[in-house]
Amino acid sequence: MTANILDGHMHARILIDSIADELDQLPRVPGLAVVLVGDDPASQIYVQSKIRMAERLGLRGEVEFLSHDASEADLLGVIDALNARDDIDGILVQLPLPAHIDTLRIMAAVDPCKDVDGLHALNAGRLFHGDDALVPCTPLGCLRLIKSIRTDLTGCHAVVIGSSNVVGKPMAALLLKEHATVTQTHVHTRGISDICRQADILVSAVGKAGLVRGDWIKPQAIVIDVGTTRVEKPEGGYEVRGDVTFDEAVRVASAITPVPRGVGPMTIACLMENTVKAAKARSA
Ligand code: GUN
Repeated sequence: MTANILDGHMHARILIDSIADELDQLPRVPGLAVVLVGDDPASQIYVQSKIRMAERLGLRGEVEFLSHDASEADLLGVIDALNARDDIDGILVQLPLPAHIDTLRIMAAVDPCKDVDGLHALNAGRLFHGDDALVPCTPLGCLRLIKSIRTDLTGCHAVVIGSSNVVGKPMAALLLKEHATVTQTHVHTRGISDICRQADILVSAVGKAGLVRGDWIKPQAIVIDVGTTRVEKPEGGYEVRGDVTFDEAVRVASAITPVPRGVGPMTIACLMENTVKAAKARSA
């Protein structure tokens, strides 16, 4: 028996349709600003996808481009200007930032009410207090996919691989809020395969292609793969690979996300949801 393949595009479409219905209740069109520093090709593609989806949904999307050698002060100036604009409801600063810029200082500069990435310390703190104000989009999308299979996570053992501020930590907080028993693992964890084998829900967000093998997975577990690593193909060109060795895992799990077309589309759909949520709160 093979696992149920969680189609991120289909779930994202359902979420987008429900958001579209909510737009009619707003007094004005919500605005999303994405800030991109530098010319990293992967970041450019992510930003384009976010703006394209915003516009398709009927939001106003705009991108602020800064060159890779822009200073922290330049970026703070752009954020201040966006914070002050009434027509902008959501601000997302695409990560990673160049090494000379302090990411935490930048996250702290975004107005928490417009922080559709959920990365401001105030929103991160709210999540850890069990209040889901503006929650980071990727873990939110992962939770939606998990709950499409299993609505009650009470008492499940969830294992998260990775402890980043963007995915690993908020993912663990969301699962804890659902009353799962959560184990957070990371690059220094000893005996990681044994820990993963105990997981009813396994979320991997490390960016190491093929790390999670089939024999790391408990039979019938739900497996969510957040990793996206560009790998050179033997015949030339590149492909995007997840953290999970899919061909092995699909024979053991009960449900699994593919890479691509798994978590990625849900991240973008949840960004739209957060933008509309921020716009609603600001116009209330
Ligand atoms: N880069 C990769 N994922 C993300 C994300 O969720 N938010 C931001 N701002 N940058 C990212």
